[in-house]
Amino acid sequence: MYDNFEELRKNCSQCSKCDLCSTRHNVVVGVGNENADVMFVGEGPGENEDLQGEPFVGRAGQLLDKMLTAVDLSRQDNIYIANIVKCRPPHNRDPKPEEQEMCIDWLRQQVSLIRPKIIVCLGRIAGQKLIKPDLRITREHGIFFKKGSTIMMATYHPAALLRNPAQKPDAFADFLKLREKIKEICPGTYE
Ligand code: URA
Repeated sequence: MYDNFEELRKNCSQCSKCDLCSTRHNVVVGVGNENADVMFVGEGPGENEDLQGEPFVGRAGQLLDKMLTAVDLSRQDNIYIANIVKCRPPHNRDPKPEEQEMCIDWLRQQVSLIRPKIIVCLGRIAGQKLIKPDLRITREHGIFFKKGSTIMMATYHPAALLRNPAQKPDAFADFLKLREKIKEICPGTYE
C-alpha cells in the first residue's frame, strides 16, 4: 500500500511483473490531477503512448481531449487518466487476462490514493475489468453503476469512435450525462 504518488510512480516505472516489460519503451503510469474526483481508465498504451510515456497522446487521445474539452474537463486540470495495463501490448493487441491481472494492482493503488468519486471506463476492456465481466458497451454505455463508494460508467473507446464515427453522438451523449453526474456529486470539479 502506497501513501504517496512519487513512490508509486517510481516503483511502477520499474515493474517487471509480466512479459510486456521486455518490449516496452516506457511504463505509462498515468497523467493528470492526483486529487481529481473523476478518473478515466483506458485499456493500455499504444505506440505513441509507449514512446512518450503518457496515456492517450495519439489520434485517439486527441479525440478524447476534444470530448473532454466539450464538457469542461481536461487532463491538465480536473481529471486523472490511467490504463488497465501500463505497458504496451505488442502490435496493439488486447492485453491478455493474465497481463491485466498482473497489472491491476497498480491501478488499485492509484485509485486508493486518488479516491475518485467517478470512474469512466473507456472501452470494453476497462469496462469488463472494472464494472463487470459481461459488460456490453453497445448496450450498457452511459449507465452509472455503483461499486462500493465509487460510481462507474463505461463509454466507447475513442479509438473505436475513430473506426466507427457513427457512434460519436452516443459517446457525446454519455459525456453530457457525465457532466450532469459530476455537477450532482462532485461539483468542485468545475470550480
Ligand atoms: N488506448 C488506450 O486504451 N490507452 C491509451 O493510453 C492510448 C490508447
